[in-house]
Amino acid sequence: MTIQFSLANATPETEATPCAVVGVYEDKLLTSAAARIDEASGGAIKRLVDSGDISGKLGSSHVLFGLSGIAAARVLVVGLGEQKKLDELRFQRASQEAARVLKGLPLASATSFLAEIEVPGRDLNWKVRTAALATDHAAYKYTATFKTKDKPRGDSFAAIAFSADGSAQAALLQATAIAAGVRQARELGNLPPNICNPAYIAAQAQKYADATAGVTCEILDREQMQELGMGSLLGVAQGSANPPKLVVLRWNGAADARPYVLVGKGITFDTGGISLKPGPGMEEMKFDMCGAAGMFGAFVAATSLQLPLNLVCILAAVENMPDGNSYRPGDVLTSMSGLTIEVLNTDAEGRLILCDALTYAQRFNPQVIIDAATLTGACVIALGKHASGLMSKDDELANQLLAAGAASLDRAWRLPLWDDYQSQLESGFADVANIGGKNAGAITAACFLARFAEGQRWAHLDVAGTAWDEGRKGLATGRPVPLLTQYLIDRC
Ligand code: BES
Ligand code: MN
Ligand code: ZN
Repeated sequence: MTIQFSLANATPETEATPCAVVGVYEDKLLTSAAARIDEASGGAIKRLVDSGDISGKLGSSHVLFGLSGIAAARVLVVGLGEQKKLDELRFQRASQEAARVLKGLPLASATSFLAEIEVPGRDLNWKVRTAALATDHAAYKYTATFKTKDKPRGDSFAAIAFSADGSAQAALLQATAIAAGVRQARELGNLPPNICNPAYIAAQAQKYADATAGVTCEILDREQMQELGMGSLLGVAQGSANPPKLVVLRWNGAADARPYVLVGKGITFDTGGISLKPGPGMEEMKFDMCGAAGMFGAFVAATSLQLPLNLVCILAAVENMPDGNSYRPGDVLTSMSGLTIEVLNTDAEGRLILCDALTYAQRFNPQVIIDAATLTGACVIALGKHASGLMSKDDELANQLLAAGAASLDRAWRLPLWDDYQSQLESGFADVANIGGKNAGAITAACFLARFAEGQRWAHLDVAGTAWDEGRKGLATGRPVPLLTQYLIDRC
C-alpha cells in the first residue's frame, strides 16, 4: 500500500497531528511554519538553533516531543540547507529525509508544511506532488520476503497531509497514481528471481487487468511466439526451465487515436547464459527485469489517472540461463522481422528479446514507441546512477522525454544514435551481430534496436544505472515510472 495523501487547511501550532513537519534553513533562518511553532511554544525551536542542536543542514532532522502551546504531539524539524541554494533536488531531498524519520516513529500519520517553502521556478502543484512522491519513496519498505526476526509494528506511518489550498488537489491525484506505479515497479524489481519469473510477471499483469476497468491483458506463450517467428527472443529463452511470456496490456482511453506503445525488457534473471557473468554481484541481475517493471508501473499510473489516450504495454519476460539447451555464441537467430542475427555474446540478450518485441509493437500502428531496458553496463559507465540514457533519432520525442524527466526529477541524458556507429554491428554470418565491440556500448546496443524500429517514432531508455540502488541493501527505484508518466500526462 502506498502512503495516503491529503491536503490540510492547517495552521502549524493548532494542528492536532501526531507530527507536524516544518523546515529550517541553515544560517539560523526559520521557515514561516517553523517560526509560528517557535513563537507559540515560547522559543523551543530558536533555542535549539542557537545552541547548534538544530543545524538546518540539508539531510539533518530533529524530533521535538510534547512542546507546550503546540497541538501536534511532535514537531519534526528538517534541515533545508542554505536558503539561496534551495532548489528542486534539495526540496526533494528534504521531503525524503522527513519521511525517513517518520517511518521510524511510532505514529500513523503526519502533517507537512514543507510545500509552503519557496522553490524557484516551481508552483504549489509541483511542490505537493514532489513532496508526496518523495514521501512515498522514502517510506517504502520491502517486506514481501520476510526476515524471520522482523516483527511487524502496529503503528506504522501510513498517511500524510500537506498544508496547501484545494488548488493542489490535481497534484495529489497524480502523486497517488504515480506512487502506485512506482510501488508496483519496485516490488516486482525487489522480489527474488525464484519468485519473480516470467510467469509471475504475466500473472501480475493479468491480475491488474482483471481488477481494472478498461484494461485488457493478453499473454503469449512459447508456442504463440513460435508461430509469430520470434526466433530471437526464443533463442534467449531456450536455456531456461521457466518458459518465456510476452505480456500485452492495453488501455483504451481515447476513441480512435493511434496508441503509445511501451516496451520493457523483462529478463527475470541474467546469468549471461553460456557467456556466463562473473560471480560477484550476479545477484543484482534479478533487477534485469526493471525495464518491464517500469513500463508496467507507468501503465498502472497512466490507467489509474484514466488518461485520455490509448496505451499498449508490452513486457518481454524471459530468463537468461546456461543449460544444455541454451543458445550459444556463434548461433544465428532469425528474428520476427526476418533479419538474421549472429550471437557473439549470449550476455547481450536484452536487445535480442527487445528486437522481437519492437517488431511485434508495430502491429498496433503506434504513434510512438518507447522502450526501457537495463540494457548495458556501458550506460552505467557513461552516466552513472543519476541519469537514464536516452537515445532517439526523433528530436521532438527526445526533447519531450528529457523535459518530462526534468519535471519529475527522474532525469535522462541524451546520447547520439548516429548511423556512424552501425558499422560496429557488421557480421560475416548474418545481417547483424548482437554486440558492437568495446567502444560506445550503450549506443551500439541502441543501434541494434534501431534496425528493428525503422520508420517508427521511437525512443530507447537505458535504465541500467537508474533502476536500482547498488549494494547489498540496494532496492529497485521505480525509475523510469515518473518520467514516463509525466511524458504521458503532458500528451493529454
Ligand atoms: N543486463 C545487462 C546489463 C547490465 C549490466 C545492467 C550491469 C546493469 C548492470 C546486459 O544484459 C548485459 O549483460 N550487457 C552486456 C553487453 C555486452 C555483452 C555487450 C554488458 O553491458 O556487459
Ligand atoms: Mn546480459
Ligand atoms: Zn541483461
